[in-house]
Amino acid sequence: ETIEWTLEAAEKAGYEHFMLKEIHEQPTSIQNTFAGKLSELEGTVTLDELYLERDEIKRLKRVTIIACGTSWNAGILGKYLFEKLAGLHTDVETASEFRYSNPVLCGEELTIAITQSGETADTLAAVRSSSSYGCRSIAITNVVGSTITRESDSVLYTRSGPEIGVAATKTFTAQLVALYMLAIHLGRIRGVVSANEAKDLIVGMKRLPGQIQKILNKKEMIKECAAQFADKRDCFFIGRYLNYPVALEGALKLKEISYIHAEGYAAGELKHGPLALITDETPVVAIATRGHTYEKILSNIKEVKARNATVIAVADDDDTEIDKYVDIVLRVPSSHELLAPVLSSVVLQLLSYYTALAKDCSIDKPRNLAKSVTVE
Ligand code: G6P
Repeated sequence: ETIEWTLEAAEKAGYEHFMLKEIHEQPTSIQNTFAGKLSELEGTVTLDELYLERDEIKRLKRVTIIACGTSWNAGILGKYLFEKLAGLHTDVETASEFRYSNPVLCGEELTIAITQSGETADTLAAVRSSSSYGCRSIAITNVVGSTITRESDSVLYTRSGPEIGVAATKTFTAQLVALYMLAIHLGRIRGVVSANEAKDLIVGMKRLPGQIQKILNKKEMIKECAAQFADKRDCFFIGRYLNYPVALEGALKLKEISYIHAEGYAAGELKHGPLALITDETPVVAIATRGHTYEKILSNIKEVKARNATVIAVADDDDTEIDKYVDIVLRVPSSHELLAPVLSSVVLQLLSYYTALAKDCSIDKPRNLAKSVTVE
């Protein structure tokens, strides 16, 4: 008797798709991102790969994040982190727009390019443009020796290993981890985040791999929930503050691989348009982990419930209040408020995956999309 196998099947290591395999690699992937860099005792992050002097870091006035797609979504979280932890005003620019706009830069801004592949044409062009103003740059990328590494002053590698699925998963959560590290590093030198706050974050970061594993162990519940979406045409993802980029990425994942029209919204913006579209046929995924905007998202949930939407909430595992307001609760282990986006993102990746699976879509190679867009 012979066993049929192909190289591709072997590379998938028993998983039906690369995407599912890569979702499961996240506990290891993010551990690789922060390995050897975190000191829990001192509350410091060591980033020897950065060519930025302490004085330069202290003098920084602004950060410009440049990225596309999923990396741009990571950038929005980066903005909130740099502002909170490092006291740095941060703009997040879509690379394809930035390169044709008239950026007002004086050369004292720090440019951070986020690009998994390191080869996205628009991102490369935008970074070149910011460098022409004299801005220092840092690239956050997954691919060693990619073009962006030659175009930037410093490189922070995500070290996630190769990602084959067109829809980014493990590289997204690794980018988030890289951004936490960078924000803590800059914030400690600038005297904005205290040693104790940094220690809490570092302890929390080290717990993430185990917490992601817990989510993966309970993926069947998420699979059942995916049945809510398979026959729907439209759906909304809503979140506030740090959960806003999670909503954006949740929607992007769903549209990329399941072809369902999905929009990510800052929940406070619902009343400025999207509410007109909410009916019992538009499920709403609300990212509602605890934090200082928790009460706000609860009122947004009530607004969409009043329009008969089916609401699926992503919430802390010990949150019993949320059950009163929503139809389905997908749980994540409770974590530091700033870190919860990593966990919620894993839940939403699985939700998209199982929705696309139910619809029998081409998950690893969605129609019309490429892993890396090297032409304009
Ligand atoms: C393509 C991929 C996306 C990715 C985007 C940016 O559209 O399909 O998954 O987020 O490019 O890629 P980058 O390599 O610059 O992060």
